Amino acid sequence: MNILILGGGGREHSLAWATLQNPKCDTLFVAPGNAGIAQIATCVSLDIEDGTAVVQFAMAQAIDLVIIGPEAPLAAGVADDLRAADITVFGPSAAAARLESSKRFTKEICAAADAPTAGYAAFTDADAAKAHIRAHGAPIVVKADGLAAGKGVVVAPDEETACAAVDDMLGGAFGQAGAEVVIEEFMTGEEASFFVLCDGQDVLAIGTAQDHKCVGEGDTGANTGGMGAYSPAPVLTDAIANRAIEDIIKPTVAEMARRGTPYQGVLYAGLMIKNGAARLVEYNVRFGDPECQVLMLRLGGQALDLIQACAEGRLGEAKVNWADDHAMTVVLAAKGYPGAYEKGTKIGGLEAQSDTSKRVIFHAGTSRINGDLCANGGRVLNATARAETLRDARDAAYDLVDSVDWPEGFFRRDIGWRAL
Ligand code: AMP
Ligand code: GLY
Repeated sequence: MNILILGGGGREHSLAWATLQNPKCDTLFVAPGNAGIAQIATCVSLDIEDGTAVVQFAMAQAIDLVIIGPEAPLAAGVADDLRAADITVFGPSAAAARLESSKRFTKEICAAADAPTAGYAAFTDADAAKAHIRAHGAPIVVKADGLAAGKGVVVAPDEETACAAVDDMLGGAFGQAGAEVVIEEFMTGEEASFFVLCDGQDVLAIGTAQDHKCVGEGDTGANTGGMGAYSPAPVLTDAIANRAIEDIIKPTVAEMARRGTPYQGVLYAGLMIKNGAARLVEYNVRFGDPECQVLMLRLGGQALDLIQACAEGRLGEAKVNWADDHAMTVVLAAKGYPGAYEKGTKIGGLEAQSDTSKRVIFHAGTSRINGDLCANGGRVLNATARAETLRDARDAAYDLVDSVDWPEGFFRRDIGWRAL
C-alpha cells in the first residue's frame, strides 16, 4: 500500500512508526512531517488544509490510504475532497468534524442521543450569558463554541472570572470561534480519554489513556496541549468503558448517521468519571497528542489494519489484539512553553538511541538545520516506552528522557502520578 499521513507532530510520528511496523505498507509519505519522521518516511511540503492540493498529490503518487492527523484539515473538509475523488481516507467529513469544531453542536447531539454530559446553555448575547452565570453560580465553565487552539475553555472558580471570560470571548478574543459561548455545569470526578474507531455504523474501542494538561508538576500552572500520557487509564475500567460505549458513543454515532452525516474516523471522547459512570466532557475528531503516541506503541503494526478497516467500512470484522501491557510518554518542551519560547536550539543525545518495539523517542517540533537536530516548536520530543507494568514503562520513558541532551528543554518528572 502507498500511504499518506497528514500532520507533523508527535501524533503523526507515532502513526508513521506504527504504519511502518506493518509489512502491508510499501511507501509512506507524511506532509509536512518533522525531522524524526524524515528518518523513516518521505516528508513532503503540502498545504494540508488545501483539499485540492492533497487530492492532486494523492492521485499523482497512487496513494491507497490517507490518514488525517490534526483537526484543522478535517474541519476544512479535506476528507470530503478525498472521498469525492474516490481516495480512501481515515477521518470524518467536515460535517461530522463539527463534533470537535462546535461545542454547541456536540451538546445538541448529546441531547438528541440522550448521552450523559454537563447541563448547558448557549449565548451570543453577553448580558444574557452573565444573567445565566449569576443564576447558576460558580464554579461554572465557559467555552468558546469554535476551535480556539485549546484555549477556548475557562473553568471559572467564581462568577467574576466567568463573566470576564464571556466578555473576552464574545468581545472577539478568538474571532469567529468565540461568536457564541457555551456555558456548562461544572462536573467533578477524574478525567480520562477513550478512543473508539467508527466506520459510520460500527464502533471498536482501541484504548484508554490519561493526559497531563498542566505545564507544571502536581498539575499546576498553565494549560498545554499535553505534557505526557499513559495507557491504559486504570480509572476507565472495562465496565465503565462498556457502559460509555452503550450510553454515549453508540447513541452519538447513531444520531450522526440519522442526520445523514455518518461519523468515520477515530472518535476521542474526553470523559469525566465519578461513582462508576462516565459523562462526556468533549469530543475530538482525531487522536489525542500525546495520547496517540502511547496507543500506537501498544498497538504496533495492527494499528494500520484497524485504521484501514475503519476507512473501508469493515470495522464489524475487525478485532484488537490486546497486549496486557502499559505505555507512557513524557513530553520534552522548549523552556517558556506554553508561553513564548526560543526556536532553533540544538538537541543532542538522540544518535545514541535506536528505536525498538518498546522504546521510541517520537519527534514533534523538530527540524534539521545544517545537519543539526533543532527544536522548532513548543512541544518537541516524546520519550515513549512500554512494559509489563506502568512503573517499568515510566522508568524506561524517563531513561529515554535522561539520554536527551537539550539544556533549553524541560519536562515534568511526575507523569503517571495519579495511576502510580
Ligand atoms: P475541553 O476543551 O472541552 O476538553 O475542556 C478543557 C478542559 O476543561 C477539560 O479537559 C476539563 O478538564 C475542563 N472542563 C471542560 N468542561 C468541563 C465541565 N463541564 N466540568 C468540569 N471541567 C470541565
Ligand atoms: N492531548 C489533548 C489533545 O490532544 O486534545
